Amino acid sequence: MSNTGKDSLLGNKIAAGLLTAGLIFWGANRIANSIVPDDAPKTPAIKLTGLSTAAPPAAAAVGLVSIIPMIATADVSKGMAFVQQQCSACHTLNAGGAAGVGPNLYNVLGSPMFAGGGFAYSDAVKAKAKGNWNYDTMNAWLAAPSSYAPGTAMSYPGIKNDQTRADVVAYLRTLAASPIALPSAAAVKAASAPAAVAATATSTGTPPPAPSIDTLFAKADISKGSALVAQQCSACHALNKGGAAGVGPDLYGIVGAKMFSAAGFSYSSAVQAKAGPVWTPDTISEWLKDPQAFAPGTAMSYPGIKNDQTRADVIAYLNKNSDAPVKLPGT
Ligand code: HEC
Ligand code: HEC
Repeated sequence: MSNTGKDSLLGNKIAAGLLTAGLIFWGANRIANSIVPDDAPKTPAIKLTGLSTAAPPAAAAVGLVSIIPMIATADVSKGMAFVQQQCSACHTLNAGGAAGVGPNLYNVLGSPMFAGGGFAYSDAVKAKAKGNWNYDTMNAWLAAPSSYAPGTAMSYPGIKNDQTRADVVAYLRTLAASPIALPSAAAVKAASAPAAVAATATSTGTPPPAPSIDTLFAKADISKGSALVAQQCSACHALNKGGAAGVGPDLYGIVGAKMFSAAGFSYSSAVQAKAGPVWTPDTISEWLKDPQAFAPGTAMSYPGIKNDQTRADVIAYLNKNSDAPVKLPGT
């Protein structure tokens, strides 16, 4: 079989895993919404802790950098690649494409918000639908969907990098027979003044290294970690001893094991370059916080667990799921 054939097979596996993961996230949200009685706490029973705490509400409200000055020079092809990787498991992009887990995104900019035909939007977003999508509203939505519309069915943590958000929105703009106008010079000027400072200060450039979570292992909650892994990782990873590889390798005994070295799994070249040393609590924390930052191009299409305590819970669980748990710092 040719390499191309093998690659596209792997691609299909990944797409299938993503789709399954997406469906599980989405289904969990829907189920949680429908089974939690009205007088219960508003937090769904199974909450996507790691993902949904990723964006403090303040970030969307106060610190959000305008992408208006970046649209004209944004990299549409990077935006396209990003959307294909991270959005297309849930959204079709072609004219007249069917709704999937999410609505079709053709012609979304300039169209009425949350109103595409043939898709049953959640009440959470229906309440936020006001006029047509423009650069500002799309920027805020994509930065943190669940801050923009708490309870939205779009289980996606958001695009934190300002340039990436601009690339994605510039690409979405091209998905139309007649794309909306680029931002006017006046709009660019108005958006540039105060935000430019914030942009350089906060979110361009490489993120600082993940802070150590060493102090959080002592109070880690293994059952919470286990629940999160069952919900967010098990679509791609087996967890039992000797489990078969799926979209990703089996994770039994992974803490303390050699990185990216499970027999019988074909790793991407992105991570092969990092294979060799053993996973320590610190390195696995860095990986799980942001797989794409740890190994750019990795085949693990998972946005990462941003919440430090949640990550500690998950690592404590993974460590226990082993014949030879390592000693976690502080325990
Ligand atoms: C896990 C599935 C999933 C992923 C991944 C996802 N979305 Fe969504 N998206 C949804 C759902 C579901 C909705 C409808 C939200 C609701 O009803 O609460 C939605 C709604 C939207 C809307 C509003 C569309 C409209 O009709 O007004 C836009 C725009 C959007 N998504 C863009 C994106 C982009 C861009 C990405 C990738 C960066 C992305 N989505 C990733 C599921 C997803
Ligand atoms: C969409 C599928 C998918 C999801 C969801 C996913 N992973 Fe992965 N994971 C992968 C793939 C694929 C790899 C191999 C990476 C590569 O080859 O680039 C991987 C690799 C790993 C590795 C390294 C394994 C090794 O052999 O060294 C760890 C650890 C890991 N994942 C943990 C997790 C955890 C924990 C979660 C949930 C919080 C998770 N993954 C969610 C697909 C996924």
